[in-house]
Amino acid sequence: MKLAVFDTHSYDQQALSAANVRHGHEIVYFEPRLHAATASLAAGFAAVCPFVNCRLDAATLQQLAQGGTRLVALRAAGYNGIDLAAAKALGMTVVRVPAYSPHAVAEHAFALLLTLVRKTHRAYNRVREADFSLDGLVGFDLHGKTLGIIGTGRIGRVAARIATGFGCRVLLCDPQSDPAFAQQLDASYCELPQLLAQSDIVSLHLPLTPDSHHLINAESLARCKPGVILVNTSRGGLIDTPALIAALKRGQLGGVALDVYELEEGVFFQDWSGTGLADDQLARLTTFPNVLISSHQGFLTREALANIADTTLENVRAFAAGETLINAISC
Ligand code: NAI
Repeated sequence: MKLAVFDTHSYDQQALSAANVRHGHEIVYFEPRLHAATASLAAGFAAVCPFVNCRLDAATLQQLAQGGTRLVALRAAGYNGIDLAAAKALGMTVVRVPAYSPHAVAEHAFALLLTLVRKTHRAYNRVREADFSLDGLVGFDLHGKTLGIIGTGRIGRVAARIATGFGCRVLLCDPQSDPAFAQQLDASYCELPQLLAQSDIVSLHLPLTPDSHHLINAESLARCKPGVILVNTSRGGLIDTPALIAALKRGQLGGVALDVYELEEGVFFQDWSGTGLADDQLARLTTFPNVLISSHQGFLTREALANIADTTLENVRAFAAGETLINAISC
């Protein structure tokens, strides 16, 4: 099938081209993100393959449909960038990669958490300058701390297991609770206010939906324990950034680790070192010593990239063959 892949980088192209040896699709890679201004590039392609920061709103989808596109094969799990109702109205099918390596994202959450808590990012910089002093590097043990996990789907569950390995007391929050899972880990489900009030660390693993937008806001931050560490490897829009910055300025938070940021589209995955950041909120966040930001790289492991590529191309094959689509997203 003819597939236009958008927002591509060398690592995507390598993984997709390697997987395509088995699938034989006609793939063309485009560097720009897919949105209204770039949708014309997909004219004549029956399938497009966007990534997380592509914006498939109604206008973009309309253009794609006019150009002959019938399938949107998202190479990611979160689909908040796609207007599903508009896709449905246009008769387009949307598929995704619901799971590729929950370990990649959960392990990245802990990479960020441990870096923040033990200040290894600062130690690394100091030692490179021949500064072997320890002042300002005091951390704390994860062992014995309460770690709250919001969203206990695939990634949240792996994160909960890792937390148990560190000897944390684990609190879980999810409208679809799984008491058997909680029992296995000696963890417990609770409501959000209770989780926020009791957790020393809060890690977000729920999808961004209209309901969860700005779940972490001034009110919920005020419910948190003073000195809480907040980790977000899920979606930036879960956190109200001005409220987060205000709480950081008040010294209310022990630290914040972000792999995602609500206005990351157009900023992340690119090199701005020569021009500087135009986004004042993001620039402000980078000034706090207790804020650690990575550029939406939770998925960036060899294993996850290979799985993403293989499932994406298999989704396209199943669509072309008229088979039942196990990874279709319905609205
Ligand atoms: P999943 O669909 O397996 O689990 C999500 C869980 O969140 C479900 O159990 C659901 O019931 C729960 N949930 C929904 N609304 C909730 C709420 N208001 N409060 C508490 N729980 C709620 O999804 P999975 O695979 O675990 O992924 C989670 C999120 O991680 C994705 O939606 C995506 O945004 C993000 N992600 C980030 C990546 C990265 O590179 N940083 C890569 C992959 C996913």
